[in-house]
Amino acid sequence: MAKKDGSVHRIWYDEPTLWASEQDSRVDKECKFLDKLFKKYKVKKILDVGCGAGSHCIKLKNLGYFPVGVDLNKKLIQYAKKKSPEIDFSVADQKNLGFNKEFDAVYTLCTVIAYAITNEDLVKTLKNHYRALKKNGLLIIDTFNPIIFIDKAEYEHERKNKENALGLYAIRKYSVDENKQLSIDEATFYNAKTNKKVSSDKSVKRMTFPQEMRFFLEQTGFSVLDFYGDFDFKHKKLDSHRMIVIAQKKKF
Ligand SMILES: C[S@@+](CC[C@H](N)C(=O)[O-])C[C@H]1O[C@@H](n2cnc3c(N)ncnc32)[C@H](O)[C@@H]1O
Repeated sequence: MAKKDGSVHRIWYDEPTLWASEQDSRVDKECKFLDKLFKKYKVKKILDVGCGAGSHCIKLKNLGYFPVGVDLNKKLIQYAKKKSPEIDFSVADQKNLGFNKEFDAVYTLCTVIAYAITNEDLVKTLKNHYRALKKNGLLIIDTFNPIIFIDKAEYEHERKNKENALGLYAIRKYSVDENKQLSIDEATFYNAKTNKKVSSDKSVKRMTFPQEMRFFLEQTGFSVLDFYGDFDFKHKKLDSHRMIVIAQKKKF
């Protein structure tokens, strides 16, 4: 659910150490993939849209890139700035970024783009990515692969998460709004000692099918280079929960 400032209310994002530990568990593999791709396309200056706690920016800076990170959540940006003051981190909405032809690549990982839940917001977001990129710039989108969720109908379920660093556990209830193509994740947090409810949140994200994503990208000035099912260049078949799209700003 959206907060007053438009950012997403999720316990994980409002407790940056929780999100940082989630992000850190993926960062090596994901940055290895990006590094390989960036070397191939001679990328140097990069924009991380929805950078969260900043882990990818920090890792990629250490690999020699020049990252800029934006996220709509103020707490996550404060946390990232404190962790790495030399990186330019700021609060911004993916629908209104304000960059103009500055980056060799834009990447947006772990379903950030799925927060653009309407067609209008998705187009606005992609147009902002387009504007931020230099000529022939690369766009890397990592989001849900809805085929898996819908085909196997495995997304409609409830599960209990492990206790986190705050001594809470979450019961997660997942459902799908088929008409609007939305994935709904409702989390209720309980104190692990007392089992008393502490808080709850709800996240609603857009699922975009591969050909639909291709259509939106082509309509906003990109050509699609590749789809992958994981961050290892081997998963050409979209048979996992992830859909990673590599697109390039078209030459006009
Ligand atoms: C699932 S997290 C992913 C964070 C990071 N990319 C990663 O790989 O860990 C989603 C992030 O998107 C951010 N976000 C949600 N809506 C956004 C928007 N409209 N503009 C920018 N960031 C947004 C959230 O604040 C959160 O940090």
